[in-house]
Amino acid sequence: MNRRYRKTIIAGNWKMNNTLSQMKAFADEIRPIMPKSKACTVVLCVPATNIQAAARMFKDCHIAIGAENCHYEDHGAFTGEVTTEMIKEAGAKYVIIGHSERRMYYNETDFAINKKVIAALKTELIPIVCVGESLEQRELGVTMEHIAYQVKCAFANVPADDARKVVIAYEPIWAIGTGRTATAEQAGEVCEGIRAVIRKIYGAHVARSVTIQYGGSMNARNAAELLMQPDVDGGLIGGASLKPADFVEIINAANQE
Ligand code: PGA
Repeated sequence: MNRRYRKTIIAGNWKMNNTLSQMKAFADEIRPIMPKSKACTVVLCVPATNIQAAARMFKDCHIAIGAENCHYEDHGAFTGEVTTEMIKEAGAKYVIIGHSERRMYYNETDFAINKKVIAALKTELIPIVCVGESLEQRELGVTMEHIAYQVKCAFANVPADDARKVVIAYEPIWAIGTGRTATAEQAGEVCEGIRAVIRKIYGAHVARSVTIQYGGSMNARNAAELLMQPDVDGGLIGGASLKPADFVEIINAANQE
């Protein structure tokens, strides 16, 4: 990471875990052990039903709240969906967009992801845009081509002033929830490649201010090494963000680097 130019952000992705009462138990457990250092920004992306309570519950320990998805329209007949404005009013500051589970299970396309990024920015929510290759793509040697394509689609029609606010999460699909983490070199290499794509579109100034996270089985043991890579500016953490002590250890690692 490089704190001189960009924020380090450790974000939890709870996915479909934790009811309101389970979240309260998590908050009670993390509150006394949250580090005082503000060197890195800490975010928890929670189920939509928890956002409002989470914003209140985690305020005193300086954890910002994010949603895990949004719709791109600002109202209308889309049963079961929520708008960026709804998310924002509920108290979220961030929103995960294009997670591989949404791309895979809900057929989210790069086109829809681009529209969601634009909608989030319009509402002044910070998008955390997920990109990543499958195992097949890695083995075929097309990782960077695939990721460059995803990044270019996500940023289409996003002006430079907005682009600098977007967080990108590099999440190799084969590393998500599998316990199989990318090596620090693999993570560093792709994050550097992503920054080069941003540089090509927006120039060096924007490229060096964009936060690029790594995600995929990041945990208390491997976080420090991954975060040592100059282009890895934080993490998007699934499983380990459900355990307060593990999540805090990752935050500590990010504070120390
Ligand atoms: P994981 O999930 O840390 O459990 O691998 C990461 C993610 O899906 O964002």
